[in-house]
Order: sequence, then C-alpha cells, then structure tokens
Amino acid sequence: MKVHTPDHIVYLCLGSKCEKKGAKECYKKVKKLLKGSKTKKVEVIKTECTDRCDYAPVMSFQPENKWLITYKQDEVLEKTLHLVTKKS
Ligand code: FES
Repeated sequence: MKVHTPDHIVYLCLGSKCEKKGAKECYKKVKKLLKGSKTKKVEVIKTECTDRCDYAPVMSFQPENKWLITYKQDEVLEKTLHLVTKKS
C-alpha cells in the first residue's frame, strides 16, 4: 500500500492561545486555498500547542523548518501559495 507524502507541510498550531489569535480561521483559509489549487504537494495539518504560546499564533513550514510567530494570516497564505506554485 502506497501512502501519499506531500513535499511540504503547513503545520498550524490550534492550541487555545493560537486559536484565540485567529489560528482556526487561518487554518480554514489555508485548507480552502489548497483545495482550490487541487495540489497534492502541499498539505496543512493542525497541531496541538507547540509550547510557544508567548508568540501566538505560531506555525511552521516543513521540511523547510521555517517558523512564523505572531503571524498575520495573509503572510501564511502568501507563503503557502508560494509553495503551491513553486517548481519542484
Ligand atoms: S497554543 Fe499555540 S503555541 Fe501554545
């Protein structure tokens, strides 16, 4: 059985502190963006608290290991779109 593994993963913390700062809405928008693009090379995954609550909302792009702290939703959407359109 073959399991699909995306090239990039957008990990969004949906712990309580991040959620209070708009992470859930951001997650929904990233999910919608990816669904609309029909790409399989980028996936979004929600996580529990990543223990960086002082910097909420927090997220990361893997395997790039690029973290965004106190991010703005547009910043996440822009960087996700960049991964979607980036040539492999
Ligand atoms: S709730 Fe997101 S880092 Fe703690």
